[in-house]
Amino acid sequence: MPPTATAAAEAALSALPSSTDERHMLMLYVHVPFCHSKCTFCDWVQAIPTKDLLRKPEDSVRRNYIRALCTEIEARGAALSGQPYVVYWGGGTASSLDRDEATQVMSALRSAFDFDGVAEATIECSPDTVDREKLEFFRELGFNRVSSGVQSFSDTRLRALGRRHTADQAGRIVHAAREAGFDEVSIDIMSGFPDQEMDELRDTVEQAVALPLTHLSLYSFRPTPGTFMRKKMQGDDKRAYLRRQQVLFTEARKMIEDAGLTEYASGYFGRVSPFAAMYFQLRADTVGFGSGAISLVDQRFLSHSKGRLHQYIADPLGFDIAVPAGQDRALVSFLQAGLAMFDGILREEWRVSTGTDLDEVLTRPSIAPLAEFLRGRGLVEDERGIRLDRRVAGLTLIELAFEMAMSQPELG
Ligand SMILES: C[S@@+](CC[C@H](N)C(=O)[O-])C[C@H]1O[C@@H](n2cnc3c(N)ncnc32)[C@H](O)[C@@H]1O
Ligand code: SF4
Repeated sequence: MPPTATAAAEAALSALPSSTDERHMLMLYVHVPFCHSKCTFCDWVQAIPTKDLLRKPEDSVRRNYIRALCTEIEARGAALSGQPYVVYWGGGTASSLDRDEATQVMSALRSAFDFDGVAEATIECSPDTVDREKLEFFRELGFNRVSSGVQSFSDTRLRALGRRHTADQAGRIVHAAREAGFDEVSIDIMSGFPDQEMDELRDTVEQAVALPLTHLSLYSFRPTPGTFMRKKMQGDDKRAYLRRQQVLFTEARKMIEDAGLTEYASGYFGRVSPFAAMYFQLRADTVGFGSGAISLVDQRFLSHSKGRLHQYIADPLGFDIAVPAGQDRALVSFLQAGLAMFDGILREEWRVSTGTDLDEVLTRPSIAPLAEFLRGRGLVEDERGIRLDRRVAGLTLIELAFEMAMSQPELG
């Protein structure tokens, strides 16, 4: 990172709350398991039956979901101490909520929590679900940041991905968000689709960085079982494909940085997002509401499994998983997330949030092989915590996500 950019990122990070503070800050996440289409690459919704994912506001199941969500927010909110610092509505597609639904959910949140200290409130969008008026509505509802999935600026690619918007529409939404009063606007783009050529990716990055963005996320495609795109990969040379993904990511990263958006965590560029940084570094308890949401609260890991929409509606206060945060599987996901930050995993934050000692965790039989793999990639371990060098972090995490996805059998 150039010195001024390093200083800006460091200043932003040091201003963030810490789980070791006296203040008990929270991150609130709301999961909206509805979309207008099921994209061929998406591993966030692969567990949700298409019929449920595409439900419209007039469906009774969807109405019941919103009711269950509000019940969960109000009941858990009443039992939790702590002050929200960041709020994030994702999914699925949070912006697919209509005005009435979004108002109900926001009212439940505001009645359960004190919003005075909220620094960042993000609404995740896809370009086919919003226009200038709807973005103005979200701004008035209390959001100050928009994060829009775009994935590609090639119309051919967008069609192949099953997206319901064009490249032009995606660009217009960024301008519309700025006009609607959002100072913080981010988009997601992806690299490393199995048949992606370098020129196609370069063109997407060029179009992305020409927009008035304050943040950009670059995701390398994870070939997660259950996604339509993974099914098409049978028989491909896996090692060659991984190497190609790394080459594509490296080129995209260079172009984005050359355009002036500095990378502060692997694949995250621009102004440090408090939600991303705090989530990666376990700087506060995360309280996730809705089917598919996870929580890390009081050193416990709670999850409503993705896809179990009907079960969630029947019992929004029941969790499929409720275990100590020090359980191996949860810790592996925290390790992966934390190493995305160039600043790495902070020892004290880790101890306070998970109730475990980082050194002990790295020796556990099911985690030691991962620790060895990371040491082979130059993992730095010192008093402050553990981290990967920024030059190798992104490629190492792509390799890790790729190997983990490929080690799972294809479904059905
Ligand atoms: C939870 S999704 C929501 C985005 C929003 N619904 C949209 O599509 O416009 C957030 C982001 O995850 C990324 N993503 C989804 N599936 C992925 C996969 N298999 N590999 C890498 N990134 C993925 C996409 O870039 C997507 O924009
Ligand atoms: S990428 Fe977004 S719109 Fe597409 S299926 Fe995933 S969550 Fe839904």
